Amino acid sequence: MVPVGPGNLRQTDITEVKQGGGGQHGRLQPSTVKLSVVLVLFLSLGKSSAQNPQFAIFYYPTDFGEISFELTDGCPDLNSCVPGFENMTISGICVTGIWIFYSEKNYNSGGYGSAEWMFGVDYCLNSDPDDFEFSSLRHAGRQSNFDANTITLYEFPLFSGNQFLDLADLPEVPMDDVDSIIITGESDWTIYSLPNFIGIERCLETWPGMLVGFFPNLSDLEMNSVRSFREGCFDDEKIQRRSDRHGEVVTERE
Ligand SMILES: *[C@@H]1O[C@H](CO)[C@@H](O)[C@H](O)[C@H]1NC(C)=O
Ligand SMILES: *[C@@H]1O[C@H](CO)[C@@H](O)[C@H](O)[C@H]1NC(C)=O
Repeated sequence: MVPVGPGNLRQTDITEVKQGGGGQHGRLQPSTVKLSVVLVLFLSLGKSSAQNPQFAIFYYPTDFGEISFELTDGCPDLNSCVPGFENMTISGICVTGIWIFYSEKNYNSGGYGSAEWMFGVDYCLNSDPDDFEFSSLRHAGRQSNFDANTITLYEFPLFSGNQFLDLADLPEVPMDDVDSIIITGESDWTIYSLPNFIGIERCLETWPGMLVGFFPNLSDLEMNSVRSFREGCFDDEKIQRRSDRHGEVVTERE
Protein backbone atom coordinates (compact mmCIF):
# COMPACT_ATOMS: atom_id res chain seq x y z
CA MET A 1 0.00 0.00 0.00
CA VAL A 2 1.21 3.48 -0.77
CA PRO A 3 -0.29 6.11 1.49
CA VAL A 4 0.50 9.54 0.14
CA GLY A 5 -0.06 13.05 1.33
CA PRO A 6 -2.25 15.77 -0.11
CA GLY A 7 0.67 16.98 -2.20
CA ASN A 8 0.11 14.08 -4.54
CA LEU A 9 -3.51 14.96 -5.19
CA ARG A 10 -4.59 16.88 -8.19
CA GLN A 11 -7.71 18.87 -8.71
CA THR A 12 -8.82 16.73 -11.58
CA ASP A 13 -7.03 13.44 -11.52
CA ILE A 14 -8.13 12.40 -14.96
CA THR A 15 -6.23 10.30 -17.42
CA GLU A 16 -6.94 10.74 -21.03
CA VAL A 17 -6.05 7.51 -22.71
CA LYS A 18 -3.88 8.40 -25.64
CA GLN A 19 -4.40 6.38 -28.73
CA GLY A 20 -3.28 6.65 -32.30
CA GLY A 21 -5.62 7.96 -34.91
CA GLY A 22 -7.47 10.42 -32.71
CA GLY A 23 -10.92 11.77 -33.27
CA GLN A 24 -12.60 8.73 -31.77
CA HIS A 25 -12.30 9.77 -28.19
CA GLY A 26 -11.65 12.72 -25.97
CA ARG A 27 -12.57 14.18 -22.67
CA LEU A 28 -16.11 14.83 -21.76
CA GLN A 29 -17.20 18.43 -21.99
CA PRO A 30 -15.78 20.46 -19.09
CA SER A 31 -19.22 20.82 -17.53
CA THR A 32 -19.29 17.11 -16.88
CA VAL A 33 -15.82 16.63 -15.42
CA LYS A 34 -15.80 18.97 -12.45
CA LEU A 35 -14.68 16.16 -10.23
CA SER A 36 -12.29 16.70 -7.42
CA VAL A 37 -10.57 14.33 -5.09
CA VAL A 38 -11.80 14.76 -1.56
CA LEU A 39 -10.44 11.81 0.31
CA VAL A 40 -7.82 9.25 -0.45
CA LEU A 41 -6.86 6.82 2.22
CA PHE A 42 -4.71 4.60 0.10
CA LEU A 43 -3.83 5.41 -3.43
CA SER A 44 -3.26 1.93 -4.64
CA LEU A 45 -4.87 -1.40 -4.04
CA GLY A 46 -3.05 -3.08 -1.24
CA LYS A 47 -1.90 -6.67 -1.20
CA SER A 48 -3.37 -8.48 1.73
CA SER A 49 -3.99 -12.08 2.61
CA ALA A 50 -7.56 -11.26 3.66
CA GLN A 51 -10.48 -11.23 1.29
CA ASN A 52 -11.04 -7.76 -0.03
CA PRO A 53 -14.59 -7.40 -1.33
CA GLN A 54 -15.47 -4.72 -3.85
CA PHE A 55 -18.19 -2.15 -3.24
CA ALA A 56 -19.20 1.36 -4.23
CA ILE A 57 -20.96 3.85 -1.96
CA PHE A 58 -23.02 6.71 -3.36
CA TYR A 59 -23.96 9.85 -1.47
CA TYR A 60 -26.80 12.21 -2.23
CA PRO A 61 -28.31 15.14 -0.38
CA THR A 62 -31.95 15.14 0.69
CA ASP A 63 -34.15 17.39 2.80
CA PHE A 64 -33.16 15.21 5.73
CA GLY A 65 -29.41 15.34 5.22
CA GLU A 66 -26.99 13.31 3.15
CA ILE A 67 -27.99 9.74 2.46
CA SER A 68 -25.89 6.94 1.05
CA PHE A 69 -26.44 3.61 -0.57
CA GLU A 70 -24.04 0.85 -1.43
CA LEU A 71 -23.71 -1.44 -4.41
CA THR A 72 -21.64 -4.59 -4.19
CA ASP A 73 -22.24 -5.78 -7.70
CA GLY A 74 -22.68 -4.42 -11.19
CA CYS A 75 -25.92 -2.90 -12.40
CA PRO A 76 -26.93 -2.67 -16.07
CA ASP A 77 -29.56 0.02 -15.46
CA LEU A 78 -29.38 2.11 -12.32
CA ASN A 79 -32.93 3.36 -12.72
CA SER A 80 -34.00 -0.26 -12.21
CA CYS A 81 -31.46 -1.30 -9.58
CA VAL A 82 -31.84 1.77 -7.36
CA PRO A 83 -35.42 2.96 -6.76
CA GLY A 84 -35.66 6.72 -7.37
CA PHE A 85 -32.18 6.93 -8.88
CA GLU A 86 -33.32 9.11 -11.76
CA ASN A 87 -34.26 11.87 -9.32
CA MET A 88 -31.16 11.68 -7.16
CA THR A 89 -28.32 14.15 -7.38
CA ILE A 90 -25.25 12.12 -6.58
CA SER A 91 -22.81 14.30 -4.65
CA GLY A 92 -20.04 11.82 -4.05
CA ILE A 93 -18.86 8.29 -4.73
CA CYS A 94 -16.41 6.14 -2.80
CA VAL A 95 -15.12 2.88 -4.23
CA THR A 96 -13.16 -0.05 -2.93
CA GLY A 97 -11.87 -2.19 -5.75
CA ILE A 98 -11.99 -1.41 -9.47
CA TRP A 99 -15.20 0.17 -10.75
CA ILE A 100 -16.21 1.31 -14.22
CA PHE A 101 -19.07 3.78 -14.81
CA TYR A 102 -20.81 3.94 -18.19
CA SER A 103 -22.88 6.74 -19.68
CA GLU A 104 -25.23 4.24 -21.38
CA LYS A 105 -27.26 1.39 -20.03
CA ASN A 106 -25.93 -2.15 -20.27
CA TYR A 107 -22.30 -1.10 -20.00
CA ASN A 108 -22.23 0.85 -23.28
CA SER A 109 -23.34 -2.26 -25.12
CA GLY A 110 -23.80 -0.26 -28.32
CA GLY A 111 -20.04 0.29 -28.45
CA TYR A 112 -20.30 4.04 -27.82
CA GLY A 113 -20.59 6.35 -24.84
CA SER A 114 -18.27 7.49 -22.11
CA ALA A 115 -16.62 5.22 -19.61
CA GLU A 116 -14.98 6.34 -16.40
CA TRP A 117 -13.14 4.26 -13.89
CA MET A 118 -12.06 4.63 -10.29
CA PHE A 119 -9.99 2.25 -8.25
CA GLY A 120 -8.46 2.11 -4.82
CA VAL A 121 -9.34 1.38 -1.25
CA ASP A 122 -11.94 3.84 -0.03
CA TYR A 123 -11.11 6.10 -2.93
CA CYS A 124 -13.61 8.94 -3.16
CA LEU A 125 -14.62 11.66 -5.57
CA ASN A 126 -17.16 14.32 -4.92
CA SER A 127 -18.91 16.38 -7.48
CA ASP A 128 -21.05 19.34 -8.20
CA PRO A 129 -24.63 18.43 -9.02
CA ASP A 130 -25.05 16.67 -12.32
CA ASP A 131 -21.37 15.83 -12.74
CA PHE A 132 -21.84 12.13 -12.30
CA GLU A 133 -23.80 11.09 -15.32
CA PHE A 134 -23.86 7.37 -15.67
CA SER A 135 -26.50 4.78 -16.35
CA SER A 136 -24.69 1.55 -15.51
CA LEU A 137 -21.65 0.40 -13.62
CA ARG A 138 -19.70 -2.75 -12.73
CA HIS A 139 -16.49 -3.84 -11.11
CA ALA A 140 -13.57 -5.65 -12.76
CA GLY A 141 -12.14 -8.88 -11.37
CA ARG A 142 -13.67 -10.81 -8.50
CA GLN A 143 -16.34 -9.21 -6.36
CA SER A 144 -15.14 -11.05 -3.27
CA ASN A 145 -11.49 -10.06 -3.60
CA PHE A 146 -10.04 -7.29 -5.73
CA ASP A 147 -6.55 -8.67 -5.06
CA ALA A 148 -7.25 -11.98 -6.79
CA ASN A 149 -5.31 -12.83 -9.93
CA THR A 150 -7.87 -12.34 -12.69
CA ILE A 151 -8.29 -11.35 -16.31
CA THR A 152 -11.47 -9.70 -17.59
CA LEU A 153 -12.08 -9.48 -21.34
CA TYR A 154 -14.43 -6.91 -22.87
CA GLU A 155 -16.20 -6.96 -26.21
CA PHE A 156 -15.49 -3.30 -27.05
CA PRO A 157 -12.76 -0.79 -26.28
CA LEU A 158 -13.03 1.10 -22.99
CA PHE A 159 -14.20 -1.98 -21.07
CA SER A 160 -17.60 -1.84 -22.76
CA GLY A 161 -20.12 -4.45 -23.90
CA ASN A 162 -20.07 -8.10 -22.88
CA GLN A 163 -17.44 -9.20 -20.42
CA PHE A 164 -15.77 -12.47 -19.57
CA LEU A 165 -13.95 -12.98 -16.28
CA ASP A 166 -11.48 -15.77 -15.66
CA LEU A 167 -8.93 -16.84 -13.06
CA ALA A 168 -7.03 -19.49 -14.98
CA ASP A 169 -5.66 -20.47 -18.39
CA LEU A 170 -8.17 -20.77 -21.20
CA PRO A 171 -7.37 -22.43 -24.56
CA GLU A 172 -10.56 -21.28 -26.30
CA VAL A 173 -12.08 -17.87 -25.53
CA PRO A 174 -15.91 -17.94 -25.79
CA MET A 175 -16.18 -14.40 -27.20
CA ASP A 176 -15.97 -13.36 -30.83
CA ASP A 177 -14.56 -9.91 -30.19
CA VAL A 178 -12.20 -8.80 -27.45
CA ASP A 179 -11.16 -5.17 -27.64
CA SER A 180 -10.07 -4.33 -24.10
CA ILE A 181 -8.83 -6.06 -20.95
CA ILE A 182 -8.38 -5.41 -17.24
CA ILE A 183 -6.09 -7.63 -15.19
CA THR A 184 -5.94 -7.67 -11.40
CA GLY A 185 -3.59 -9.14 -8.82
CA GLU A 186 0.07 -9.89 -9.19
CA SER A 187 0.13 -12.22 -12.18
CA ASP A 188 1.13 -11.40 -15.71
CA TRP A 189 -1.12 -12.78 -18.44
CA THR A 190 -0.20 -13.72 -22.00
CA ILE A 191 -2.91 -13.31 -24.62
CA TYR A 192 -2.86 -15.06 -28.00
CA SER A 193 -4.53 -14.30 -31.30
CA LEU A 194 -5.36 -18.00 -31.88
CA PRO A 195 -6.77 -20.82 -29.72
CA ASN A 196 -4.46 -23.14 -27.77
CA PHE A 197 -1.86 -20.49 -26.99
CA ILE A 198 -0.50 -19.87 -30.48
CA GLY A 199 -0.44 -16.97 -32.90
CA ILE A 200 0.47 -13.40 -32.06
CA GLU A 201 1.16 -13.07 -28.34
CA ARG A 202 1.32 -10.20 -25.91
CA CYS A 203 2.31 -10.30 -22.25
CA LEU A 204 0.27 -7.96 -20.07
CA GLU A 205 1.51 -6.86 -16.68
CA THR A 206 -0.15 -4.93 -13.87
CA TRP A 207 1.41 -1.59 -13.07
CA PRO A 208 4.03 -2.15 -10.37
CA GLY A 209 2.54 -1.72 -6.92
CA MET A 210 -0.97 -1.15 -8.29
CA LEU A 211 -2.33 -4.69 -8.64
CA VAL A 212 -4.37 -3.63 -11.65
CA GLY A 213 -3.62 -3.13 -15.33
CA PHE A 214 -5.94 -1.30 -17.75
CA PHE A 215 -5.69 -2.06 -21.47
CA PRO A 216 -8.51 0.05 -22.94
CA ASN A 217 -7.81 -0.59 -26.61
CA LEU A 218 -6.09 -3.77 -27.78
CA SER A 219 -5.79 -2.33 -31.29
CA ASP A 220 -3.02 -0.21 -29.82
CA LEU A 221 -1.14 -3.43 -29.14
CA GLU A 222 -1.79 -4.62 -32.70
CA MET A 223 -3.87 -7.39 -31.26
CA ASN A 224 -7.02 -7.79 -33.32
CA SER A 225 -8.35 -10.91 -31.66
CA VAL A 226 -7.84 -12.79 -28.43
CA ARG A 227 -8.62 -16.49 -28.80
CA SER A 228 -6.74 -17.87 -25.78
CA PHE A 229 -4.80 -16.69 -22.75
CA ARG A 230 -2.74 -18.05 -19.90
CA GLU A 231 -1.33 -16.86 -16.65
CA GLY A 232 2.32 -15.86 -16.72
CA CYS A 233 4.51 -14.05 -19.20
CA PHE A 234 5.46 -16.04 -22.33
CA ASP A 235 6.73 -13.19 -24.45
CA ASP A 236 10.01 -11.24 -24.35
CA GLU A 237 8.32 -7.93 -23.79
CA LYS A 238 6.06 -7.05 -20.87
CA ILE A 239 3.40 -4.46 -21.60
CA GLN A 240 2.31 -2.13 -18.84
CA ARG A 241 -0.26 0.62 -19.02
CA ARG A 242 -0.32 3.36 -16.46
CA SER A 243 -3.63 4.61 -15.16
CA ASP A 244 -4.44 7.13 -12.52
CA ARG A 245 -7.06 6.21 -9.96
CA HIS A 246 -9.61 8.01 -12.02
CA GLY A 247 -9.79 8.07 -15.77
CA GLU A 248 -12.38 8.63 -18.42
CA VAL A 249 -12.73 8.36 -22.15
CA VAL A 250 -15.43 8.73 -24.75
CA THR A 251 -16.30 6.77 -27.85
CA GLU A 252 -18.47 8.56 -30.38
CA ARG A 253 -21.55 6.93 -31.78
CA GLU A 254 -20.79 5.99 -35.39
C1 LIG B 1 -8.39 1.97 -30.78
O1 LIG B 1 -7.17 2.03 -31.49
C2 LIG B 1 -7.36 2.07 -32.89
C3 LIG B 1 -5.97 1.96 -33.53
O2 LIG B 1 -5.03 2.72 -32.85
C4 LIG B 1 -8.08 3.35 -33.26
O3 LIG B 1 -8.33 3.38 -34.65
C5 LIG B 1 -9.43 3.39 -32.51
O4 LIG B 1 -10.06 4.63 -32.75
C6 LIG B 1 -9.21 3.22 -31.03
N1 LIG B 1 -10.50 3.12 -30.36
C7 LIG B 1 -10.86 3.89 -29.33
C8 LIG B 1 -12.18 3.65 -28.74
O5 LIG B 1 -10.14 4.76 -28.87
C1 LIG C 1 -38.98 11.69 -10.46
O1 LIG C 1 -39.50 13.01 -10.36
C2 LIG C 1 -40.58 13.24 -11.25
C3 LIG C 1 -40.95 14.71 -11.12
O2 LIG C 1 -41.07 15.10 -9.80
C4 LIG C 1 -41.74 12.30 -10.92
O3 LIG C 1 -42.80 12.50 -11.82
C5 LIG C 1 -41.24 10.87 -11.03
O4 LIG C 1 -42.27 9.98 -10.62
C6 LIG C 1 -40.04 10.65 -10.16
N1 LIG C 1 -39.50 9.31 -10.40
C7 LIG C 1 -39.31 8.45 -9.40
C8 LIG C 1 -38.78 7.10 -9.81
O5 LIG C 1 -39.53 8.69 -8.23
